[in-house]
Amino acid sequence: MKKAYAKAGLRQVNGYTGWLKVNATAYQSATHGARYVNNYADSHGDFRYKMFEKAGTMPLGSVLAKDSFVVNPDGKVSIGPLFIMEKMGTGFNKGSGDWRYTMIMPNGTIAGMTKGKGMNMKFCAECHAGVAPDQDHVMFLPEEYRVKF
Ligand code: HEC
Repeated sequence: MKKAYAKAGLRQVNGYTGWLKVNATAYQSATHGARYVNNYADSHGDFRYKMFEKAGTMPLGSVLAKDSFVVNPDGKVSIGPLFIMEKMGTGFNKGSGDWRYTMIMPNGTIAGMTKGKGMNMKFCAECHAGVAPDQDHVMFLPEEYRVKF
């Protein structure tokens, strides 16, 4: 998985599997193609993300990554996209709460990035905006899958 995503060459997610992982087990995310997912937060904001709904506004530079996989009917596992949110500086993009959304495909290509090449990722921002401003566009995960910190 790590190797496939690394082909995209995005420094921001280098070594993400070593970041704080907030889910105890992989869980199926209806909103991300019903794939199984894991959620990770980097050191800019992991101490906040692990407070879940009490996290408040995430610090500048925070990166949240969600890797994904699919279990096929034959039992074989295939990799899904890597979903990324990065907290950029004030004024980066009002509509997304200054979050930059990126999706890296399993073959290492970047499908799109807020204000970048490819798809504009507006659909990510629009759904996540459902919890702004209370939760700074961060959704967290269903309680039953959370690590108890
Ligand atoms: C229809 C709503 C919806 C859409 C569209 C959506 N998300 Fe999410 N996202 C969620 C929900 C709900 C969660 C938390 C629960 C879960 O994992 O299913 C979440 C969690 C995340 C997380 C973990 C951080 C957090 O918010 O707790 C990342 C990273 C993420 N999404 C990135 C993306 C990206 C990138 C896209 C676009 C390619 C996207 N999402 C599209 C609803 C959505």
